[in-house]
Amino acid sequence: MQATAQIGVTGLAVMGRNLARNFARHGYTVAVHNRTPTRTKALVEEFGHEGAFVAAETAEEFVAALERPRRLMIMVQAGAATDAVIEEFVPLLEPGDMIIDGGNAHFADTRRRERSLRERGIHFVGAGVSGGEEGALHGPSIMPGGSPESYAALGPMFEKISAKVDGEPCTTHVGTDGAGHFVKMVHNGIEYADMQLIGEAYDLLRQVAGLSPAAIAEIFREWNKGRLDSYLIEITAEVLSHVDAASGRPFVDVVADAAGQKGTGRWTVQTALELGSPVTAIAQATFARAASGQAALRGAYRGLPGGTRWDLTPYEAERFTAQVEQALYASKLIAYDQGWKMILDAAEEFGWTIDLGAVARIWRGGCIIRAAFLDRIRAAYAVDPGLVSLLSDAGFAAEIRDAQVPWREVIATAARRGVPVPAFSAALSYYDSLRAERLPAALTQGQRDYFGAHTYRRVDREGSFHTLWGTADRAEMEA
Ligand code: 6PG
Repeated sequence: MQATAQIGVTGLAVMGRNLARNFARHGYTVAVHNRTPTRTKALVEEFGHEGAFVAAETAEEFVAALERPRRLMIMVQAGAATDAVIEEFVPLLEPGDMIIDGGNAHFADTRRRERSLRERGIHFVGAGVSGGEEGALHGPSIMPGGSPESYAALGPMFEKISAKVDGEPCTTHVGTDGAGHFVKMVHNGIEYADMQLIGEAYDLLRQVAGLSPAAIAEIFREWNKGRLDSYLIEITAEVLSHVDAASGRPFVDVVADAAGQKGTGRWTVQTALELGSPVTAIAQATFARAASGQAALRGAYRGLPGGTRWDLTPYEAERFTAQVEQALYASKLIAYDQGWKMILDAAEEFGWTIDLGAVARIWRGGCIIRAAFLDRIRAAYAVDPGLVSLLSDAGFAAEIRDAQVPWREVIATAARRGVPVPAFSAALSYYDSLRAERLPAALTQGQRDYFGAHTYRRVDREGSFHTLWGTADRAEMEA
């Protein structure tokens, strides 16, 4: 077998197949391999005309087809399957070769694999690939980690096949070892929050304003022309305007209201707990998916007393709709701020150097959360790369100021009406907590010291203290 391929893709399910096609369409010779060879044959038969493919039946043939240093992209199920494929190929590789994992692997697995393979002279690159099947074929957002050397070899290829915005590729070297998969995980966590916030806005317009799915679709289409312009808002209008052919009813009314989740949102929240990053909107979105699936529990709660219902006049419905747009935007801004803070916290924890502005830049296109809004974030970091919060940017601060009254009125209305808005509420409370001069955490510290002698600090002098709660004078001692 002649070594003529600049890239190899093993694992030819839809994502792998579409990435292989994308590379081939951009002029690369692509070696393709799959556990079941029929998939490999089918790919070349159906899409061989799109570019140069080298079909490999065996792992040995696949490796032999690759130019040195070999670049081998794994597109298989995250977890054990990825380890199995690595173990199958590593004995066939030589120092300097690269293995790229384009699946949704957990970043801790990627850090482990990168460390282990580095000792064997192999570059291991965990690369988040966002944009689903369409993105993989037409231009995803690609978030590679791994060594700078591996990005020197892979970067030009990723830049060629990625989505482009303003002529710029939606990819960059995110950071070393598992940084790429970490950032992809946070992308998915933000995706969960974005989708939950959109769902809560829809529910409010449906239940409080009394609007039909078709009417709400039009409202989302309008919002998509402004600051909420994004892929998720765009597809929401499509889903809400869709009519179920079998029943003639709005599609959204025939779909079972129990949300699935493959796990990346859950990983984001678990990791945030370990990092101490309060991604409260992402957490509420993840828990909302879990709650929606609790059929028996929901049955037990159904029928319990709730809020009060009242009809809105057309004018009130229009005013409420405008308020919901403000509440949605403000909550989205907080959710994104939480995600960026989590990336900053992780960079400090794991020793990554991550350009937070570049993360926004490469998410402007190709990925599921792609939005005009991300260019605003990119621009904010261009002005101040050391932004502590997006709200330190004058533009975003002005928008959150303008949203104060409607944001709070929408959440108050939801509470009065008994409409669940867990992510809206979490975003607002996060905002109010961080704004507060004093938090009830002072009382928490007093309670902890009372029952567990866990000590506390004072506002008026340095040191740790403990009060002798069991004594008559409750004297305070330095701990
Ligand atoms: C992407 C998506 C993708 C995600 C699936 C399912 O960036 O292309 O985020 O990676 O895994 O859409 O996600 P859930 O099942 O967790 O909703």
